[in-house]
Amino acid sequence: MQNKSQTSPAGPVIVILGTGGTIAGSGDDVGYTAGQIGVPQLVAAVPALASRSLEAEQVAQVDSKDMSHEIWQVLAMRVQHHLARPEVGGIVITHGTDTLEETAYFLHRVLSPAKPVVFAAAMRPATSLQSDGPQNLLDAVTVAGHPSASGVLATLNGRVHGPVEVRKALPFALDAFSSGEAGPIALIQEGQLRLLRPWPVCEALGMGRVTHAPAAWPPVDVVVSHAGASGRVVDALVASGTRGLVIEGTSNGTVHASLLEAIERAQAAGVSVLRSTRCAGAAVVGAPGGALPSAGELSPAKARVELLLQLLGQLGAPPA
Ligand code: SIN
Repeated sequence: MQNKSQTSPAGPVIVILGTGGTIAGSGDDVGYTAGQIGVPQLVAAVPALASRSLEAEQVAQVDSKDMSHEIWQVLAMRVQHHLARPEVGGIVITHGTDTLEETAYFLHRVLSPAKPVVFAAAMRPATSLQSDGPQNLLDAVTVAGHPSASGVLATLNGRVHGPVEVRKALPFALDAFSSGEAGPIALIQEGQLRLLRPWPVCEALGMGRVTHAPAAWPPVDVVVSHAGASGRVVDALVASGTRGLVIEGTSNGTVHASLLEAIERAQAAGVSVLRSTRCAGAAVVGAPGGALPSAGELSPAKARVELLLQLLGQLGAPPA
C-alpha cells in the first residue's frame, strides 16, 4: 500500500510510515479495533505538526499481534529507501505496542541507521476522548527531527527507549514500555529532548539478510522451560522442520533436565539454539553451564529475531 501525502515544508523532511496498531485504532477505550485509521489522518489530528515538513505513507494496517515477516521486509525496504534521500532527516513508524519491540530490534540489526528511525505507539485508540497517540506522535517527530538523534528508537509517554532494552511491560498503563534496569535513552519534557545515555548503535547486518521471500525464511520457535517440562514440544518442532530454537529458561537461563535432553537432540540434528531467560527485563549472564549459547540481554522474542537473522545469513543469495 502506497498512500502518500505531503504537507507544508519546514526543516528536514520527516517521513511517517504507518503500520497500524492502537495509535490507528477506532472505537472506545475498551471495545476498539486496532489498525483502522490512515496515517495522513493521524498526522492531521496533531495541529503542532502542521508547520513541519512531513510525508505520510501507509506501509501496512494491522493489529501488531499479527505482525508478519512480509511486513517487516517491506518496512525495512521503505525505511532504507527514505533514509537514502538526502532531504530526509528522520523517519517515524506508527506501530502497535504488542510487537513493537520485535520490529524495532529487527530494523536495528538490519539497518542500524545513522538517522533516527523512531517508533510511535499509543495505548488508547485514535478515537478515544483521551487518546495518547497525538502527543506520542508529536514526540516521535520531535525526536526524529532532532539533529543529534540517531538509531532505532521507540517513544511512548514522554520516554525514548532503545531497541535492545524496550519491551511492553504492562498491558493497560499509558507508560506501558520499560527498558528495565538500563532505563530510557532520553526523556521528552516540555517538547525538549533530554538525553540520558548514548543513542543505540550496532554493526548493521544489511538488507542482504532479508532479501529472500519471507516464505523461505527459516522457522525459528520459542520454547519455555517450566516445572513438569518434557521434550515433547521440542521433538515435535524438530519433526515439523524448525531450524532454530530460543529457549526461554528459568532464572539465569537454566533449563529443565527433560527439556534439555530434547534440546541437545535437536542441536545434534543441526538445529541452532539460543538460551534466554523468562525473567522479564533480565539478561543471561556468563555461561550457565552446558552447550547452549546465550542470548545475553535479549528477551526471548528479540532472541528469536536475532537467531532468525543469523540463520538468514547462512542461506546465501536468493535465487535470481
Ligand atoms: C497492537 O499492538 O496493534 C494493538 C495494541 C496496541 O497498539 O497497544
